[in-house]
Amino acid sequence: MNNHNKLLLLFCILSGSAVVYSDGNARIFDITHKITSQLPTFDSQKGLGHFIWLVSSIKNGSMANISEFKLGTHTGTHVDAPSHFFQKYYEEGFDVSTLSLQTLTGPVLVVDVPRNKNITAEVMKSLNIPRGVHRVLFKTLNTDRRLMHTREFASDFTGFKKDGAQWLVDNTDIKLVGIDYLSISAYVDAAPTHHILLKSREIVIVEGLNLDGIKPGKYTVHCLPLRMVGADGCPTRCILTA
Ligand SMILES: *[C@@H]1O[C@H](CO)[C@@H](O)[C@H](O)[C@H]1NC(C)=O
Ligand SMILES: *[C@@H]1O[C@H](CO)[C@@H](O)[C@H](O)[C@H]1NC(C)=O
Ligand SMILES: *[C@@H]1O[C@H](CO)[C@@H](O)[C@H](O)[C@H]1NC(C)=O
Repeated sequence: MNNHNKLLLLFCILSGSAVVYSDGNARIFDITHKITSQLPTFDSQKGLGHFIWLVSSIKNGSMANISEFKLGTHTGTHVDAPSHFFQKYYEEGFDVSTLSLQTLTGPVLVVDVPRNKNITAEVMKSLNIPRGVHRVLFKTLNTDRRLMHTREFASDFTGFKKDGAQWLVDNTDIKLVGIDYLSISAYVDAAPTHHILLKSREIVIVEGLNLDGIKPGKYTVHCLPLRMVGADGCPTRCILTA
């Protein structure tokens, strides 16, 4: 490890940021939450619970350990497909396998939003996100409150109000929209906000991001959900490079 990398590592430890790899040129930030039994799930006080088990094990004389798992399509860090909120799109097959890789990877802006409000039209306007920006991750009070690290679901999380979502669609070029808790929409606006964002089938929603220690600014994002036919959402690995 050269001195530059030692310094970077020290900086990352001190700032609590999620850097997991550095070779002196590229820095990789893992913005995916670990899938554990303690992970919060929507509308539940119990968290994810037991989700993986061995079906063959070396201990029992098998050649290899092989497990199976069972997860909801909207577990942890995940994407939403158009079929999540539209029956028509479900029937037409607009599942996660149809999401655009062009949208899921590329330049991204991480923005800090005001901590005292949900994301309304007024908040969106105040952020001054320039035209031509196609991907934005919204870092909110959810990160400060460590909600993704808290097993009990919190319905008072920060998200988009419907007027904020409409403002985004009308006044920005954003096609990938990410947030740091289990839903892009404030709890009270779940249906209208998802409808507004998913209607055109051009916007990809990424939820449950881990933005701990991530500073606002420009990065490159890579989110790669499984190519799962019929799925209205899917856990995804997301990383930022800078
Ligand atoms: C291993 O064997 C024990 C005893 O037969 C059984 O209870 C257990 O379920 C087995 N586990 C696996 C992973 O095969
Ligand atoms: C294989 O499974 C056994 C339980 O049967 C476990 O103790 C062991 O750590 C596993 N090995 C690996 C490499 O995961
Ligand atoms: C955001 O909206 C939720 C209701 O969905 C509310 O409980 C919460 O207090 C609001 N957050 C802020 C910061 O105003």
